[in-house]
Amino acid sequence: MQSEAVPRALHAGIIMDGNGRWATQRGLPRLAGHHRGVEAIRRTAEACPDLGIGTLTLYAFSADNWQRPAEEVGGLMRLLRSYLRNETQRLARTGTRLSVVGRRDRLPDGIPQAIAAAEAATAAGSRLHLRICVDYSARDAIIAAAQRLQSQEDLTRESFGALVAGAMHGSPVDVDLLIRTGGEQRLSDFMLWEAAYAELHFTERMWPDFGPDDLAAAMAEFARRERRFGGLKAPAVPAAA
Ligand code: FPP
Repeated sequence: MQSEAVPRALHAGIIMDGNGRWATQRGLPRLAGHHRGVEAIRRTAEACPDLGIGTLTLYAFSADNWQRPAEEVGGLMRLLRSYLRNETQRLARTGTRLSVVGRRDRLPDGIPQAIAAAEAATAAGSRLHLRICVDYSARDAIIAAAQRLQSQEDLTRESFGALVAGAMHGSPVDVDLLIRTGGEQRLSDFMLWEAAYAELHFTERMWPDFGPDDLAAAMAEFARRERRFGGLKAPAVPAAA
């Protein structure tokens, strides 16, 4: 299998699964796993630029996660609030631009304002675009894009994709590498449009244990994949005339 150089500024997505099991296996409340998950976010994001990843989209809270017990939902919202409060300076210092993707109208009071403030404070970051999906559903994003259409004229994959993905600030809409931790192998309504040609990487590692070494391993496997985008592999030797 041919090994191609990894292009710069890849877009990686991660379904951060396994927080609850990580905690339960240690006799801890599930929220303890989510707390440790925030540390995994920090170390994973900070490893991205050196691995050639320019955009990292993380799945933190799905539109279906509202069904979880109120205590867990409340804990996750408190964690989001403290993340925005405590991490913004560090994100700005490390050249990280933060965007929060998903609905904001159902988030608890104060959080939409905190998101807007964190986004504004990190808007100059150019080493990494960190996108965190909260109250996010890929299918709802596709429906919302369809509703925003004024007319079907000159609708292309590119123009519709821009509506689905929302403000990308120059980042690529398409995901190159999609990672899911925690041993499950499904997409769970995450970036269904953007991941059309993503390479998939599933790992047994629980998210709280994930870090730069795991990301580097996923990138090494990605570099060995042959991406054809529906075409054919280029022949190693030119065909005889
Ligand atoms: C999935 O694991 C994880 C979540 C639903 C939450 C992810 C949240 C974080 C990593 C921390 C919060 C981040 C911010 C920025 C606030 P699970 O709970 O479904 O795990 P399980 O499959 O083992 O039960």
